[in-house]
Amino acid sequence: MKKSPDQLRSHRWFGGNDLRSFGHRSRAKQMGYAVEDFDGKPVIAIVNTWSDLTTCHSHFRDRAEEVKRGVWQAGGFPVELPAMPVNETYMKPSPMMYRNFLAMETEELLRSQPIDGVVLMGGCDKTTPGLLMGAISMNLPSVYLPAGPMLRGNWKGQVLGSGSDMWKFWAEKRAGNISDCEWSEMEDGIARSPGHCMTMGTASTMTAIAETLGLTMPGASSIPAVDANHARMATSCGRRIVEMVWDDMKPRDVLSKASFKNAITADMAIGGSTNAIIHLVAMAGRAGIRLDLREFDAISQRTPMIANLRPSGEYLMEDFYYAGGLRALLKQISSLLDLNALTVSGQSLGHNIETAGVFNDRVIHSLEHPVSQSGGTAVLYGNLAPDGAVIKPTAAERRLLEHTGPAVVFKDYADLEARIDDEALPVDQDSVLVLQNAGPLGAPGMPEWGMLPIPRKLLAQGVRDMVRISDARMSGTSYGACVLHVSPESFVGGPLAFVRDGDLIELNVAERRLELRVDENELAQRRASWQPRPPHYERGFGALYAAHVTQAHRGCDFDFLEAGADTAEPEIH
Ligand code: FES
Repeated sequence: MKKSPDQLRSHRWFGGNDLRSFGHRSRAKQMGYAVEDFDGKPVIAIVNTWSDLTTCHSHFRDRAEEVKRGVWQAGGFPVELPAMPVNETYMKPSPMMYRNFLAMETEELLRSQPIDGVVLMGGCDKTTPGLLMGAISMNLPSVYLPAGPMLRGNWKGQVLGSGSDMWKFWAEKRAGNISDCEWSEMEDGIARSPGHCMTMGTASTMTAIAETLGLTMPGASSIPAVDANHARMATSCGRRIVEMVWDDMKPRDVLSKASFKNAITADMAIGGSTNAIIHLVAMAGRAGIRLDLREFDAISQRTPMIANLRPSGEYLMEDFYYAGGLRALLKQISSLLDLNALTVSGQSLGHNIETAGVFNDRVIHSLEHPVSQSGGTAVLYGNLAPDGAVIKPTAAERRLLEHTGPAVVFKDYADLEARIDDEALPVDQDSVLVLQNAGPLGAPGMPEWGMLPIPRKLLAQGVRDMVRISDARMSGTSYGACVLHVSPESFVGGPLAFVRDGDLIELNVAERRLELRVDENELAQRRASWQPRPPHYERGFGALYAAHVTQAHRGCDFDFLEAGADTAEPEIH
C-alpha cells in the first residue's frame, strides 16, 4: 500500500502547526523554495562523497544535479548532503580506517534530518561499503549510484589498467627495464578520465556486488563514468527513489541471505578483490545476516571465474561494459543464482537480467568455457591463521600455490622498506616474505601493503612472484601469491607475531592450509615472552577506532555498530 503524504517521515518536520515546524518551513523558504516545492513531497537526500581530493568522483557535482532532475520529475524534493569523501589515493594511514566513519556519518545524516529516501553516491573503494553500511542500519528507502569506471589507460599504444599496470611496471623499473622518462609518460596516461579504477579492483568489485545485492538500478555498475548513459542512469535513480519512498521499500526488504549468496557468487565469477570479503561480512552484519568465511570458500569452489578482467585476466571495465556488462555476466551464471531476489527496481534479479546478452565472449566467458574453473578467492586456515586468511589464486603464479619455504620476517612496514632491497638480505625465490603489524590495529587501518615488493636482487634474476604473508589487505588491482587478512592479527598476539626468520611455512591452496612448521612447545615459549606494542592513539577518532574495530574475519566493523536493536527516531520539540 502506498504511503500518504502525512505518513512521510519528513512530515514530522514540515507538516505540523507548531513553533518547530514554522522554523523548519521558514528556513526552507530562506533558500528560495516555495511551499509548493516541498509540501507533502518525499524529501530525498543525495549523499555525495565528492571532494577535490576524491579523484574518482570528480564528475559527482554534475551527477548530483542529474539525480535532482529525476527527483523533481517524480514529485520529490531533493537535498544534497556532502559526506566523508573517503578516497583511496590520498587518505593515510589507510582509507580503511575511515570506512566506518563514513558509515556512521551516513546513518546519522539521515536520522537527524527530515529525510524520506536517499540516493547514495560512491564508487571509490571504501565509499560503497561505507555508504551502504550506514544506509542498511538506518533502513530508509535507498538507491546506490555507482561512480562508474574510468576509461582505459593508454601509453604508447599499450592499454594500461589502474593499479595492476602500475605495480607491474614499477617492478620493471626497479629491475632497471623502464626509464624515468617512460615512467613519467605512464603517469600521464594511466588515469585519463573521471571514474574509479577500471580494473576489477575493489571499486569495480564492490559496485558489482551492490548491483547484485539489488541496491542499484539494473546495469548501473558497469557504465563508464563519462558515458552519457551514466548521466541518464543518475536521473533514473532520482525518479526511482521517489517511487520507493511511496512504496516504503527499504534496504532490509531487499537484502536477504539469498541476495548475499548471489553477491558472493558474482564476486567469484568476476574474480573480485579480496577486500570484498571484509566488506560483505560487515554489510551483511548490518542487515543482521551472519556470513562465515567458509561460505565464501564453498561458493568460490563451485563458481567458475568467467570475467576476463585484470588483474586476473586481460581486459578492463570499459571492455566489460561493451561486452554486455554485469547483467550479461549474471545471465551467464544464472543457474548459480537465486533469481527471485528482490532489487530496488521493484523487480526480481531474474527479471532485470532477462534481456541481457554477451557481445564479446573473450571478455565474458561462459560457464562451459570459464577463465578459471573455480572462483577468485580461497580461504585458508591453519596454525598460522586460526580465524582464517585469504588468497587470490587466480592472480598468482601457479607453482606457488603449493609451496613450503623459509620465512624472511619484517616487523612492520618501516622495517620492510629499510631492508627489502638490502643485497645482504638472506632471501631467494623460495623464501616466504612475512610482514607483521600491518592489520586492523597494528598498522593501523589494515592498509593495502599485502603485495610485499619482491627484493630488487631477485627482480634482477627474473623473479616476479613469491609467497608473501601478512595481516594486511591488498589492493584489488594487485596480484601475486599474497596471503592476506591473517586473523587474528599479529598486533594482538595472533600466531603471525611469533614467526621468526628461517621458520618453515607451508602454503597449500588446494587443501586450504597455511601452517607454521614450528614445534608447539617452541611456539608456546615464544607466546609467553611476546611483548605487545603500545597503542597508536591516545585520543580522537583513532582511539575510538582502536577500541572498537573487529578483526578481519568479522568484517572490521565497530562492535557497537553491528546489528542490534534499531535506534529510535529523534524527538522533535
Ligand atoms: Fe578510487 Fe581506485 S583510487 S577506485
